[in-house]
Amino acid sequence: PQEQTLAVIKPNALVEHREEILEHIQKGGFTISRVKETILSREMAEEFYKEHRDKPFFSQLVEFMCRGPCMLMALTKENAVEEWRAMMGPTDPAEAKEVAPESLRARFATDILQNSVHGSSNPQHASEKIHFLFGDIASEGDVTND
Ligand code: CMP
Repeated sequence: PQEQTLAVIKPNALVEHREEILEHIQKGGFTISRVKETILSREMAEEFYKEHRDKPFFSQLVEFMCRGPCMLMALTKENAVEEWRAMMGPTDPAEAKEVAPESLRARFATDILQNSVHGSSNPQHASEKIHFLFGDIASEGDVTND
């Protein structure tokens, strides 16, 4: 069965590596079912990352994500959540370079904060965040929707 995940190309990576990252996504067999390039407001970024609000890096993270345009995408593929996480590699690029040298973060991240891409951690988060960022129309045909 097809699954959806939410993928984000973060501001610095969008400026520096847009084409390479999009090429990876296409070669990985993902369908980009929705796409939007936008500068997140502070409120949007805070809501988007609410699961991290108690972390010491939260305010840095929100500021970074609002610094310039992000590319937001709903990616569709079988096992999309896990496949996209594998393609991204670990959060910390230092670790990514060790364990997944071909991954996007190993290749394109600047540091653990500016780590080039984001992906949902599970299908529940994926549909929640797609709904939040794209609105009602994003859940059309979403089998997890009741
Ligand atoms: P992401 O996968 O989008 O989810 C949360 C983000 O917080 C993460 O990528 C990084 O951008 C950022 N992050 C995670 N850990 C740290 C850290 N230790 N210091 C700074 N930023 C971090």
